[in-house]
Amino acid sequence: MSGGVEIPVRVAGVEDAAQGVKLFRLAARSGAPLPPFSAGAHVVVTIDAGGRRIRNPYSLVARAPDGSSYSIGVLRSPQSRGGSKHLHDHVSVGDELVITMPINLFALVRTGRKHLLVAGGVGATPIYAMAEEAKREGRNYEIHYAMRDEASAAFVDEMRRSHGDRLHVYRGALGERLAFDALLTGQPLGTHLYVCGPERLIDAALEAGRAAGWPKESLHAERFLAPGGGQPFRVRLARAGITTQVRADQSLLEAIEEAGVDAPYLCRGGACGQCEVGVLCHDGELAHADHYLTGEERAGGGKIMICVSRLKGRELTLDL
Ligand code: FES
Repeated sequence: MSGGVEIPVRVAGVEDAAQGVKLFRLAARSGAPLPPFSAGAHVVVTIDAGGRRIRNPYSLVARAPDGSSYSIGVLRSPQSRGGSKHLHDHVSVGDELVITMPINLFALVRTGRKHLLVAGGVGATPIYAMAEEAKREGRNYEIHYAMRDEASAAFVDEMRRSHGDRLHVYRGALGERLAFDALLTGQPLGTHLYVCGPERLIDAALEAGRAAGWPKESLHAERFLAPGGGQPFRVRLARAGITTQVRADQSLLEAIEEAGVDAPYLCRGGACGQCEVGVLCHDGELAHADHYLTGEERAGGGKIMICVSRLKGRELTLDL
């Protein structure tokens, strides 16, 4: 299986973490302890939703000290194609799911002198885990958490209890704003910035970092990018000799998997580069939605990230 080893799990607990955010506690069906992970990791959850198979990445919040369960945070996304809605509305204690082994594309940099952890909305999930790890390891860190208000924010009470005045909250409803220019100015050399949340927050943080002359190795972002759906089209897999349809509510990767072809992936969110596939020909326009390909690569039209990108046209032929 191209996303790595899979673990069959059972839902051992479900609780509300904030408005629209649920925490699912998952235990291995075998009863074996689940492997440890470093903060910032996610798992890909396979969800069978009304006859459709959806695989979505969700951030890991915590592992029980004895390894008996993982907790994942799931936002009931308004743009959901069904995965997070299905988890929220239909999955309860005792139900069975399948997850991948933890994958970490957003880990704390061990050599960092200071760590600025910035969260917005459901981006608090990995940031919460990273703050706990930074505290456990005695690191120099601050948390900056932008939210509409505290009622709609996950983990804010837990963070306040655990991290005291290292936590800074910015409540939009009260007119409080996180000013990245001020935050990023005057930080000691060797400081790393980690930001997770809505696109606009991430873009503002990275832009401010670049403008302040931070090296790109010190700027880290995790974008929650779920494939958005779009018009249906046909995909021809040249090496497999298969042609199949990509439905409106399905990603290219999901359609390829449904056709029985193994395709590589790690994040399923347009960030890691693992699912890159060569484009042999197409009509219409390649709708790139990833954060991996360069502008030049996109303009070249020779590659596509099949987890989030698709075709605005009738037929796409891939080197797969
Ligand atoms: S699986 Fe990571 S970019 Fe597609």
